[in-house]
Amino acid sequence: MTSVRPILIKGGRVIDPSQGIDRVADVAIAGGKILGVDNGIELEDSEVINATGMVVCPGFIDLHTHLREPGFEYKETIATGTAAGARGGFTTVCAMPNTSPVMDSRSIVDFVLTKAMEEGVVRVLPIGAVTKGSKGKELAEMGELAEAGAIGFSDDGHPVSDHNVMRQALGYASSLGLPIINHAEVQSLSGGGVMNEGWVATRLGLKGIPTSAEEIMVARDIELARLTGGRVHIAHASTKGTVELVRRAKDDGVDVTCEVTPHHLTLPDETVMGHLSASGPFDDLTEAAYDSNAKVAPPLRSRDDVGAMVQALKEGVIDFIATDHAPHGTVDKQTTFEDAANGISNLETALGSVMSLVHADAVPLPVLIEKLTASPADFLGRSDLGTLRAGSSVDVTIIDPDAEWVVEPSEFASKGKNTPLAGATLKGQVVATVYGGRVVYDNRVSS
Ligand code: DOR
Repeated sequence: MTSVRPILIKGGRVIDPSQGIDRVADVAIAGGKILGVDNGIELEDSEVINATGMVVCPGFIDLHTHLREPGFEYKETIATGTAAGARGGFTTVCAMPNTSPVMDSRSIVDFVLTKAMEEGVVRVLPIGAVTKGSKGKELAEMGELAEAGAIGFSDDGHPVSDHNVMRQALGYASSLGLPIINHAEVQSLSGGGVMNEGWVATRLGLKGIPTSAEEIMVARDIELARLTGGRVHIAHASTKGTVELVRRAKDDGVDVTCEVTPHHLTLPDETVMGHLSASGPFDDLTEAAYDSNAKVAPPLRSRDDVGAMVQALKEGVIDFIATDHAPHGTVDKQTTFEDAANGISNLETALGSVMSLVHADAVPLPVLIEKLTASPADFLGRSDLGTLRAGSSVDVTIIDPDAEWVVEPSEFASKGKNTPLAGATLKGQVVATVYGGRVVYDNRVSS
């Protein structure tokens, strides 16, 4: 690692929701710590970054990232996935355990953390499996996983379907003070379905997945959290009914939280029919019947659901934004819609996508920043992350909220080029990412 020079980020709009800061100021960094946020700071021998016209905020935290290593290195590695994180402004990514082998033992957590230390560009926090092999039958060694550094447990990609296994998991995880992050999907309802049930599925002749496939399991998860006093987190919420259930459960004092992805906040199921820009109506609809890059689990939902997600984010029913970065190889996606893998390579387009909500006056910028920084840090119980408080970890993201850019997947650091946004123009771009006091991504020349 190169020696770290002090950095002075001058004259940007500093937005740090953890401290209620939203004003033009300087941010000083030295010795691997934030020195402070103030006006007119002078710092000897520092690298000065002129942030005039930019937004300076804490580094983003992604609670839901598929890094694919070990086992699926052709889709992504810890090196490429964390480089993609840095390009997307993320200084912390939480690695999902659906690797091969599944991250259900200490040795795999150790492997991921060691690799991350050796090759990672940003911080990696592991999420352990709930059940052995994520098969949903027998609990993984959760205590051992927690000791090794797991920040929670999930069988993501697969729901924990067995009610009693989920009950036990919630009870055990709560004794460790950690959440169960569940992929809510009743497979007997979604089985064979490949996209949202609705008019687009009917027109394309594809089998649909009803919203109730998610909502029934969300209702179950809430009831089991109520029963056990455990902490349940709903991964990638996608339906209006889900957020209504979460809203009521929170009002009742149940320990439930939920996240939403950039795609469920911005892209309706019509996107499956072809190219749709993140902010608006169809533009260049092609001859292809569908775009398998828009196939994702849970599926892209109706415009009504998308609107409900945005509203729930603004109101705080949805706790934070998480990318569900799901890189796949071209072979996994260039096939029939039925056979194509689920997932979107998301880290590098996340900010540009969700900034469309700010530009449409649907979500205020400070709220959006909070959902990418302070809120996920709260979820992790990490007061040193997601903040520019003096003395905290030096994770800073600088963005140009008005920069327009065209999504070109071949330029992604991620091996996953699978995005329905290829060719779309997004407004809002990461200019630089500082992690651990070092600039790990610098787009200042080309921006
Ligand atoms: O679309 C998805 N892809 N949803 C998931 O839950 C899993 C993920 C993956 O691992 O590819």
